[in-house]
Amino acid sequence: MVRDEVLRALEAQRGQCISGAALAQTLGVSRAAVWKAIEKLRADGLAIDALAGEGYALRADDDTLTEEAVHAARHAHTLGSALTVLPETDSTNSLMKRAYADAPHGFTLIACRQTAGRGRLGRTFCSPDGGLYLSVLLRPKLPLAQLNLVTLAAAVAVCRALERLTPLAPAIKWVNDVLVDERKLCGILTEAAIEGETGAIDFVVVGIGVNLRLDRNALPPDVQSIACALADLTREVPRRAVLAAAILDELDALYALLEHGQSDLLLAEYRTRLCVLGRTVRVCAPQGVYDARVQDLDANGHLLVCTPDGAQHTLSSGEISIRL
Ligand code: BTN
Repeated sequence: MVRDEVLRALEAQRGQCISGAALAQTLGVSRAAVWKAIEKLRADGLAIDALAGEGYALRADDDTLTEEAVHAARHAHTLGSALTVLPETDSTNSLMKRAYADAPHGFTLIACRQTAGRGRLGRTFCSPDGGLYLSVLLRPKLPLAQLNLVTLAAAVAVCRALERLTPLAPAIKWVNDVLVDERKLCGILTEAAIEGETGAIDFVVVGIGVNLRLDRNALPPDVQSIACALADLTREVPRRAVLAAAILDELDALYALLEHGQSDLLLAEYRTRLCVLGRTVRVCAPQGVYDARVQDLDANGHLLVCTPDGAQHTLSSGEISIRL
């Protein structure tokens, strides 16, 4: 489609003017076709300036989330090389499992909002406009016991991307909440399909939700008190496409560590960002709720905690909350 080709060309020189004649020549279409494509793109909400005698420019700060915008910002070898951006879906994780379970490793779904966003432990994940909602399909060749490491990689990838694009210093609350100033900026939901006969991992869907600009009133009161958004913390809020691309790039690199048997490097980096080491936390485990002090992280990313009676526990899943 000429529209998509024009958009790719504008993305490649975002913020700079390209003449209609040059676009027409490069794409092998008429200037009228270029003009029509520009009108379509504008109707889709893209901020494209037309400068008399000079041509067209996609504004540097245009935050429209498109496949072209993500591709233009992305460097990853594999993750996100095939991707689909949707204005709305129920849940990118649910849609991935429902409709894209046969997609290749690295296929990515991104939505501008979710109507039935899902969180860990069966919770809902409020997903209004102004957030980034992204799911990546992975086909890890890892033993099931190491599945947890994929989740850890996603949390580190989000931290690295935020550190690269903003002045913030995010931290990780085990397992995979990304916090700034102890408030949740990002949640991650990892889901897996296991082959019944062999017990091998068929695919994993890593779902990542980041709050960029949130209308606080769109959030339920209990979420308002624990969540934060990038726009509340810094003026340097990246475009959603740029953040998505950075997360994909970082996850690509971290996932390569896992595939090359270098999970120790991932764990070391995860540990440096873990904000619960040495602190007392409240553990919500299937056996009950209790307070414990966090001692360490083991080689599978499980949390080692110690209760006041001196008993040690290894947490492989469940939930902890930080006791201030
Ligand atoms: C949590 O904090 O409990 C996890 C939240 C995970 C949210 C993301 S948004 C993209 C993907 N789609 C979903 O429905 N959930 C994940």
